[in-house]
Amino acid sequence: MNRDATYEAPSNIAFVKYWGARDPDRAVPWNRSISMTLDRCRTRCTVEHVRSREAEQVLFRPAPGAPLAPAPGPFAARVTAHLDRLRRASGRDARLRVATENSFPAAAGLASSASGFAALTLAATAALGVHATPGELSSLARQSGSGSAARSVFGGYVEWPRDFGDESVSAHVLAPAEHWDLRDVIAVVDASPKPVSSRDGHLRATTSPYFDRRLDRIDRRVEAVRAAIAERSLERMGPVIEDEAIDLHLIAMSSAPPIFYWKPATLAVLEAVRRLRDDRTAAWATMDAGANVHVICDPASEDKVARALQRVPGVQSVLRDRVGPGPRAVAEPVR
Ligand code: PMV
Repeated sequence: MNRDATYEAPSNIAFVKYWGARDPDRAVPWNRSISMTLDRCRTRCTVEHVRSREAEQVLFRPAPGAPLAPAPGPFAARVTAHLDRLRRASGRDARLRVATENSFPAAAGLASSASGFAALTLAATAALGVHATPGELSSLARQSGSGSAARSVFGGYVEWPRDFGDESVSAHVLAPAEHWDLRDVIAVVDASPKPVSSRDGHLRATTSPYFDRRLDRIDRRVEAVRAAIAERSLERMGPVIEDEAIDLHLIAMSSAPPIFYWKPATLAVLEAVRRLRDDRTAAWATMDAGANVHVICDPASEDKVARALQRVPGVQSVLRDRVGPGPRAVAEPVR
């Protein structure tokens, strides 16, 4: 039966990062990663069947309230390639129309590939009538080339093991969202697209002299973050996730050719976060492949952290998010 489907999937912020790929097209990582699934930063995606004479379309909403428009070429090509993969997996040759929108400003410079490809995978497999387990959906999402999408198929705290490209290995939940109410206060310091894609960053990572040194530390970091989640200990987790984020950028900056994601305001935010800690506020920073800073804190500190970040020169906006329960099917399609 041809059934149209709409899903919402959240973005996630990694505490131990996926950085460096054996195969970037299938997102085969060198190391395990752990993330927190967010709640408010979401992608909504509708996949509909089109009549045989109509052309397939990939549409997106460029800004809140704006009409749907054809997606930019490179993004549309990635979506079509992923649809082809899902069609092969389902053995169905349906012609599909995709419409997608983000709850967070597209120009905020925040990673939307995790939420985008998780939502697309869930909506397209539902539209194609694929009966897949959550683990299989996570593995399919990863094969889009966005590794972090494998984690956004789940809510709460999620680990993605080192899978050597084995498609039966998928991300899994370490703890549900209600286990630990953590907040993510995001300082947006650069809203433009990142200068080097994470795909190129993953490829270049192994050229850094620090790549192997970080891999040596990963197991200890994963154990520490897992234990901190189990104990709900921000004091235990914070230093580990901040070191880990700095290592990602150290590797990026020492790759050949080097990649500089940070802006001056990134450093100013990191300093503000250290000052918050000097003032006995448990707040710890992490950054993905970009200039923006995610500050992880308890609910009781969220207002103070947001006020402090707003005051930092160069911060364009502050977004507030929190750990969330993961994707869901929704009735209202993207129109
Ligand atoms: O999901 P990708 O392939 O765009 O890579 C994500 C890389 C980081 O966001 C920097 C780290 C992570 O684990 O999410």
